[in-house]
Amino acid sequence: MQLIKKEIEIEVYDTDSELQAEDQYLLRLARESMELAYAPYSRFLVGCVLLLENSAIVKGSNQENMAYPSGLCAERVAIFYAGANYPGVPVKTMAIVARAQDYSIQTPIVSCGACLQSLTEYEKQFGKPIRTILQGEGGKIWIANKGTQTFMPFQFHVEELKR
Ligand code: THU
Repeated sequence: MQLIKKEIEIEVYDTDSELQAEDQYLLRLARESMELAYAPYSRFLVGCVLLLENSAIVKGSNQENMAYPSGLCAERVAIFYAGANYPGVPVKTMAIVARAQDYSIQTPIVSCGACLQSLTEYEKQFGKPIRTILQGEGGKIWIANKGTQTFMPFQFHVEELKR
């Protein structure tokens, strides 16, 4: 028998005043983006901001649809926009925040599996982690310096599909 063990690392901060100025700025932008979510069905708003290596900023928010599965999460709105408009440019840092209209979210919300699959493939494409900052409406802040694979240590990856 062989054992596969993977270790993950998440920094936890109590308030954003403990963060470096750039991270505070990205969280602020993520909050602004979050308020632009179109989420009349779930009443759950998510904002996702990407800082690219070329200093460009990409903003995303969840966009829902009456035909529920047609909607898209904030993270994929942002990462696909980055791929479409800044091809070849890696993402340095990503900030994600969430707010519900009917209750208070005081813990960081980790992206869904479909978003993590898309984000981890972006990381693999460039061989660079997307440093990830997470916060709910308030409460503790999580920073994953090793990127989104922190939350999805294994992902669907078949190199042959690129042939
Ligand atoms: N949502 C995101 O934007 N990101 C995630 O990672 C998970 C969920 C959105 C989708 C939907 O509009 C709402 O949150 C409730 O699921």
